[in-house]
Amino acid sequence: MKFQSQFIKNIQFTFQKEGEAWLKRLPELIAYCENKWSLRIGDPFQLSYNYVAPATRVDGTELVVKLSIPGEGFHDELAALRLFAGKGMVSVIAADEERGILLLEKLTPGKMLADMDDETTATQIAANVLEDLHRAAPERTRIPTTRTREANLQRQLREHPDGKGPITREQMEKACDIFERLHKTSEQQFLLHGDFHHYNVLATGENEWRAIDPKGLIGEREYDVIQFLLNKLPETETLPVIRDRIGIFAGKLHLNRERLVLWGYCHSVLATSWTVDSDGNYDKRFYQAVTSIEQLLDN
Ligand SMILES: Nc1ncnc2c1ncn2[C@@H]1O[C@H](COP(=O)(O)OP(=O)(O)O)[C@@H](O)[C@H]1O
Ligand SMILES: [Mg+2]
Repeated sequence: MKFQSQFIKNIQFTFQKEGEAWLKRLPELIAYCENKWSLRIGDPFQLSYNYVAPATRVDGTELVVKLSIPGEGFHDELAALRLFAGKGMVSVIAADEERGILLLEKLTPGKMLADMDDETTATQIAANVLEDLHRAAPERTRIPTTRTREANLQRQLREHPDGKGPITREQMEKACDIFERLHKTSEQQFLLHGDFHHYNVLATGENEWRAIDPKGLIGEREYDVIQFLLNKLPETETLPVIRDRIGIFAGKLHLNRERLVLWGYCHSVLATSWTVDSDGNYDKRFYQAVTSIEQLLDN
């Protein structure tokens, strides 16, 4: 069995020995799924860190299998999928928690929101999906809160006291300060997607859209919009696009614009820091978003 080369690189780089062992076991795990749920599994989708492929059950039902290294991330994703229970989100049909496997409803036609050219329509669709998704946080859950994101940035600042990639120490400190200020004045907590962007929203049925691939996060709704602001940006003139997106989300979801921009600064700094690799490469669009949002903070 031959896997996509970028997928292999990602798994080896991120999960090292554990990743190697998992890649070796993958053919066996795929066969296990076919057997356990009477499936025929097809060629995978474009892969990054998980093995995701369409499958047909013996009764003809079209499904999707998603195999992950069964760590914290997998368990948070499953917990989030169960809490969303199909509203605004793909439904879980079955799971094998020990082996890190999800059997999901297949969204058909499954076109990604990323393939929609019209910027305004795409953002309106995204806002509708978030309206379906967001609900009050459950009282007890394993899903992490946005405080873990703050802690992650604080740790990165300790590990990179001179800044990381294009992000200066001052920018990291400023984002940490804002994180702290926002958490001290935190308002109502919601169940959030945690990785909401154009590539994790798919078309289903006649004219419906649903999210996939939640990381699961507890926090203010404004936080969940930020990852969407960073994706699919033009090379230049990013500020007007970001401003228009904020207008659409804030209007539709009745969000607090000031807090949204402040969370925007924190998360765009954090998300950019995650893209910095050992050679100093990073996502330039994400960094452009940092500087755009900085301008919004000053106004
Ligand atoms: N339920 C589904 N229905 C149809 N296509 C899906 C479904 N789940 C995932 N996909 C396809 O597989 C791709 C990767 O799935 P995703 O859960 O986003 O994995 P990753 O965590 O690797 O981003 C998606 O971009 C989409 O094209
Ligand atoms: Mg995804």
